Amino acid sequence: MVNLKSAIKRQFDKSFDTYDRYCSLQNEVCDHSIQLLKKQATDFEVMADFACGTGESTLRLIERITHRQCYAIDFSDKLLSVAAHKLPSTVHPILFDFENNLFEAQTLDLIFCNMGLQWALDLEKTFKLFQNYLNQSGYLVFSMPVKGNFPEIKQGFKYPLLAQEEISKHLEQSGFQVVEFCLYHSVRCFESHKEALVSLKKVGANVSFQQALRVNLRDVFVEDCVDPRLTYCVGIYVCRKENALC
Ligand SMILES: C[S@@+](CC[C@H](N)C(=O)[O-])C[C@H]1O[C@@H](n2cnc3c(N)ncnc32)[C@H](O)[C@@H]1O
Repeated sequence: MVNLKSAIKRQFDKSFDTYDRYCSLQNEVCDHSIQLLKKQATDFEVMADFACGTGESTLRLIERITHRQCYAIDFSDKLLSVAAHKLPSTVHPILFDFENNLFEAQTLDLIFCNMGLQWALDLEKTFKLFQNYLNQSGYLVFSMPVKGNFPEIKQGFKYPLLAQEEISKHLEQSGFQVVEFCLYHSVRCFESHKEALVSLKKVGANVSFQQALRVNLRDVFVEDCVDPRLTYCVGIYVCRKENALC
């Protein structure tokens, strides 16, 4: 487990100078998540962007959501330093692993996490930490790829993802109620199969593909995937702390 986490971090560290040029899908999902959130609320006292990466999601969040205070958290020092240069001094960057305890109970009003929680080794534990950080009427908004993502790639070369139902179960067990959900699909086309995999490496999402880039690429893709493409299947969740609804 420790080795897996270090490997994940290493791949993200390496993407520090390419991430921003290759993250159009992440940005689209982020915009969509903020739109869904704005149907519920637009104004929060204290908010935190977990797994903020190079700060692209934090920038979008602070522009569109009224707030008094904002934290940007990531465990990759390389990505966080890009974020720190880009974000205004009103945002507090914190180098931290989101699977460990960071804030006191009931200190946050909004927790945001764009395309980061698929990397949690124990998702339910992370949800429980988040639940504890939120105040009584707090929101958790996150997006993550779900089972069914990249149908073009053979199972053995994909990072294992949870099904939508499994994520909902973990949320329920952790004291969250889902108030908005959307399954976001997007197909990206490429010049070659290699370019498709390289696009993932450039955003650091290649912990399970490292080997793939060294083998015959036709073996990585399913037989009927003739046109080089990747189909993203991402769950977007807007949740409320359970006791807020009682
Ligand atoms: C796909 S990037 C998303 C970055 C940003 N939210 C965005 O929308 O561009 C995923 C991020 O999750 C971070 N990450 C993965 N596991 C993490 C962990 N356990 N603790 C903190 N950050 C983590 C990575 O360092 C990376 O910056």
